[in-house]
Amino acid sequence: MSSAEAAVVTIEAVQEKHFADLARLQKEFLNSKMMCCCVPLGVFANEAEVRKAFHKCPEMMKVAAVALVDDQVMGFIQVVLHGMPCEIHTVEKDEAYVYMIAVDPDARGMGIGSKLLEWADDIGRQRGCEKISLDVLGGNKAIGLYERRGYVAKPASCLSLPAMFFFVSCFVGLRIRPSGSPPYWNYGKDIFMVKKL
Ligand SMILES: CC(C)(COP(=O)(O)OP(=O)(O)OC[C@H]1O[C@@H](n2cnc3c(N)ncnc32)[C@H](O)[C@@H]1OP(=O)(O)O)[C@@H](O)C(=O)NCCC(=O)NCCS
Repeated sequence: MSSAEAAVVTIEAVQEKHFADLARLQKEFLNSKMMCCCVPLGVFANEAEVRKAFHKCPEMMKVAAVALVDDQVMGFIQVVLHGMPCEIHTVEKDEAYVYMIAVDPDARGMGIGSKLLEWADDIGRQRGCEKISLDVLGGNKAIGLYERRGYVAKPASCLSLPAMFFFVSCFVGLRIRPSGSPPYWNYGKDIFMVKKL
């Protein structure tokens, strides 16, 4: 694929036949994050785990979508609604939460992520949500994309600092700051972003 114009992207709800591709995308995404500074989080991502998670809460399949390009799964988004399992965020009644979004590295920057986020907005509205939110780590290029789509960062409270320190040291690890990158205090810091639907 050489350009977004050349690619016809279709977004559709997740089905069982997509599980292997979801595991592939999740693995790729999670391997960019470290547990205890050295173990890539993606080591646990596989098709059986994807199947197990959806079987535990089949409703989650209705709020998950894949992006297809020439029938190939190139992207994935998982939304979580109030009452669905979510270990990283307490989802409120009027809220849709983007739990994970990932696009195949070969297809990034071509508009697929934007289409998946648009789908998530629609699902949130259909389910009567008034806002949609997500968490992103400071320094992630995706922040620009979220801002362009109307997400606004919510200031973190001082109480969250110890939790943030724990999160950064366990899951992100120490990093050397490359020139031009965000300041240390933003790099790897969890940023909660929200937008009205
Ligand atoms: C973030 C991501 C889902 C966006 O999907 P996409 O199809 O590349 O997005 P679009 O083509 O619609 O929009 C392009 C924007 O995405 C962001 N982006 C591009 N490449 C990216 C990358 N490798 N990693 C993160 N964000 C990227 C940029 O904001 C870009 O805008 P820009 O070209 O003005 O800089 C995708 O890049 C990705 O899977 N990244 C790695 C996983 C990740 O960071 N997920 C988000 C966790 S909160």
